[in-house]
Amino acid sequence: MSNSSLETLYHPSAATTAAAHVSGMAAYEALVKEAETDYEGYWARLARELVSWKKPFTQVLNSSEAPFFKWFEDGTLNVSYNCLDRNVERGLGDKTALIFEADDGTVTKVSYSELLARTAQLANALKARGVKKGDRVVIYMSMSIEGVAAMQACARIGATHSVVFGGFSAQSLRDRVQDAGAVMIITADEQARGGKHLPLKAIVDEALADNACPTLKDVIVYKRTGGAIGWVEGRDLWLHEVLAGQPTVCEPEWVEAEHPLFLLYTSGSTGKPKGVQHSTGGYLLHAALTTKWTFDLKPDDVFWCTADIGWVTGHTYITYGPLALGGTEIVFEGVPTYPDAGRFWQMIEKHKVSIFYTAPTAIRSLIKAAESNEAVHPDRYDLSSLRLLGSVGEPINPAAWEWYHKHVGGGRCPIVDTFWQTETGGHMITPLPGATPLVPGSCTLPFPGITTAIVDETGNDVPNGQGGILVVKKPWPSMIRTIWGDPERFKKSYYPSELKGYYLAGDGAIRDAETGYFTITGRIDDVLNVSGHRMGTMEIESALVSCTELVAEAAVVGRPDDTTGEAICAFVVLKRPRPSGDEAKAIAKQLRDHVAKEIGPIAKPKDIRFGDNLPKTRSGKIMRRLLRSVAKGESVTQDTSTLENPAILEQLGQAY
Ligand code: WTA
Repeated sequence: MSNSSLETLYHPSAATTAAAHVSGMAAYEALVKEAETDYEGYWARLARELVSWKKPFTQVLNSSEAPFFKWFEDGTLNVSYNCLDRNVERGLGDKTALIFEADDGTVTKVSYSELLARTAQLANALKARGVKKGDRVVIYMSMSIEGVAAMQACARIGATHSVVFGGFSAQSLRDRVQDAGAVMIITADEQARGGKHLPLKAIVDEALADNACPTLKDVIVYKRTGGAIGWVEGRDLWLHEVLAGQPTVCEPEWVEAEHPLFLLYTSGSTGKPKGVQHSTGGYLLHAALTTKWTFDLKPDDVFWCTADIGWVTGHTYITYGPLALGGTEIVFEGVPTYPDAGRFWQMIEKHKVSIFYTAPTAIRSLIKAAESNEAVHPDRYDLSSLRLLGSVGEPINPAAWEWYHKHVGGGRCPIVDTFWQTETGGHMITPLPGATPLVPGSCTLPFPGITTAIVDETGNDVPNGQGGILVVKKPWPSMIRTIWGDPERFKKSYYPSELKGYYLAGDGAIRDAETGYFTITGRIDDVLNVSGHRMGTMEIESALVSCTELVAEAAVVGRPDDTTGEAICAFVVLKRPRPSGDEAKAIAKQLRDHVAKEIGPIAKPKDIRFGDNLPKTRSGKIMRRLLRSVAKGESVTQDTSTLENPAILEQLGQAY
């Protein structure tokens, strides 16, 4: 595949280049060269420039226990010191750190001094409850200043946080609390989204019922809506009560660079979600560096990353990166379609947002909305404050890219299409706005110092223009350190022996023959990407078969979807005769609700098809590639001669 891209390149304007931190392709290439010439020296220089160390490091990279790499090992630091105190010390105390916009449009701003005081108070409250360095604290919160402060407070005392997205079910929350061995959950009574109040505390109660999580001692509840909630005396505490009387000063806990800052659970191709463990020093370095170079963050910017703090994007580009640089950023509680689909544009206008970072799925759904309702078209808003746009989470199709560029960016704002993963901690392949000429649909070139490459199954480089497996050849500072409690799974998942010690990203990719630009072609494992959310097909299958009264067997595949990127399609064999018509619809609804309860609404299959059986080889293996064709509605042209029961394909293709 060739992008035949050279004529569609979008070059940065001379003004953008002149003002950028990385100013022009020559500057980009010089950084790449510096990293090639002295890899450790390059990262050490940046770690000294961007991070404040309590005890400076003398060692850079330790590969002696590869693939368990260590960075800046003998240095000590504190992330919350770097994000808060340091900015106050630099004279930014009165600068707005966070602009919080609630679901109903109410705006609250906090300065760096205020955020530091709140964080310190909460850190003191956590210590008073006995939380100490290395303890795990689960944060199950809506988007809020309190959510960011809770993460920063954990970092301040060296507790390892694990944020669980507020859309996950009680069962998913319980799995994560148990796996992490958490001692505390910080939550809210309810969350306000799209004009509705949705439960959080009630889900926590369900997750902890029957003494399912024996390590858990305290639940701290932020009163967000004041809705009625259950209360367990001796376990539950109001946030405002534990804060009352706590001093607003708290000496940071200086931790080693490798100390685990957080765990974040994400889906893999097999088994339960895995707790991706991140470090302190290397992670903070890349969070700050990528915010500086990819988003070209400057003192006057208003930065808005629309991700939730429950995902890695919210960690790196809300809680850590922009604060480490003393930026001003938006924290948004609501949804893009409430009160109408013009909400994003209206907020950009109102807050004079200059850098806007969102997901292709949001762009695609807002294109649809704008096309059917002129009033919510971005052209109707004053978006002249924008100077840079970003995209993350899934491939952005060129048509959505062009629309975003023209109607949101007014044709003048570069778009940084940032490829990265929960495991990578920060951007891996991305344009730099003042340097890289853009091609719609391509994430372009590796971030300076990041050694992404495309190889075959044996780890040999494939030539440009030929697709293959995306790997990272050298360890990098913000990489995943291990899977919490399962180092063997870490090795097997990311460092399979046939790949010569390269990190396996799990995505396919291709480099353009002319430009060398990368295009991500999608996951090569059984991980789905639905609206930018990662889900394992196995997880959804186990949720379906856990409905034991109904389901005998289930197989889940993805199929392309115009809005959500991929849609979940489940093929189900029931324990009773195959239903049709209204009965099939009713059972499908029941199964969707069951999956929502087991995992969360985001995992609900869009299509559910029923069959007397699944297509299997004579040895009993489910043939997923055939199911993928059936899901797409394609006629199956593949060889089905090894299939035990070819007639089943037609049955599974039928709608009801
Ligand atoms: C996909 C989100 C194409 C990819 C930060 C990756 C992308 C997975 C892009 C990680 C992009 C992310 N272009 N695909 N710009 N960004 N992906 O862990 O499949 O939630 O492996 O991290 O999203 O998803 P995760």
